Amino acid sequence: MAKKRLLSGIRPTGSLHIGHYLGVLRNWKKLQNEHECFYFIADWHTLTTKYKDTHELNQNTIEVAKDILASDIDPNKCTLYVQSAIPEVAELHLLLSMVTFQNWVERDPTLKEMVRLLAEDEEKAKEEITYGLLGYPVLQTADILSVLGESVPVGKDQVAHLEMSRDIARRFNHIYKTDLFPEPQHLLTETPSVPGVDGRKMSKSYGNDIKMEDSPEETLKKVKQMITDPARMKKTDPGNVENCQVAYKHYEIFADKNTLETVKKECHSAAIGCMDCKTRLANIMNDYFKSIREKRQSLKNEKEILEILDIGNKRARKTVKETLHKVRDVMKLKNWD
Ligand code: TRP
Repeated sequence: MAKKRLLSGIRPTGSLHIGHYLGVLRNWKKLQNEHECFYFIADWHTLTTKYKDTHELNQNTIEVAKDILASDIDPNKCTLYVQSAIPEVAELHLLLSMVTFQNWVERDPTLKEMVRLLAEDEEKAKEEITYGLLGYPVLQTADILSVLGESVPVGKDQVAHLEMSRDIARRFNHIYKTDLFPEPQHLLTETPSVPGVDGRKMSKSYGNDIKMEDSPEETLKKVKQMITDPARMKKTDPGNVENCQVAYKHYEIFADKNTLETVKKECHSAAIGCMDCKTRLANIMNDYFKSIREKRQSLKNEKEILEILDIGNKRARKTVKETLHKVRDVMKLKNWD
């Protein structure tokens, strides 16, 4: 049986943090062996909120490409490309926007959440919402349908987007009496919730993140800032891992069962202080990311990265061009080329 075609994108927000690795890249690595994968860097999607400051976008795209390649995503197994290198995706976005009802995009809960994050103040948020941001899920649909993607690995927060993608695909097929577009299914992947050092969701914009590329020293410094059990004032006070809001959550992500038992015991009996406990955690995390960081260090040559992306871009564009040719056909639009 032919492998299912799978597509996934990531926004180039700068070099990625460990939450991105655990939630996205680790899954990409696994899935590349099971599916025909199209992975891309969604630089246009970044513009939906960051349209004013674009000067870092190209560099960020390269940094993200390095994180992706360092995570053992193999550009020979999958097609790795950059969204803006495929202008036909923008054309498809335009055509799909014609069949997408205004109230579909307005009710999108992910958009509502993004708006909330943009500004706690609703008036301010209104100023931030552009036509482009409203079209976020339509552009995402164009990404998926441009390669006739059947499967899309996403976290829970993106399920509503995928539902809209299916609605758009179905409506397009119905209007133009075709079965060109598959109705893409979400593939729920394991995405652990990763708290930042201050206990809020890990995010570059909160400044509470640990980067994939951070050195062991930087990692240690950040881990030492992690919140622990707030009731444990002195080293001699017994602690409780259940109340250890950040550090223990990271232990649960990175440590094996035996270590977790030891941590629990030593915390509850006050045999170890929080600082020493966090040093141990940093060591575990540094071990976990050791080979990825080494690989990332070896990807210094940007020309090489651009060459890898160029190959992927060409391959992706060929597929997308074929799709657009068919789209124009079924819409009775002239294929000018
Ligand atoms: N929305 C995704 C994110 O927030 C990025 C993305 C853009 C994407 N297009 C996509 C993911 C298509 C899956 C499929 O990071």
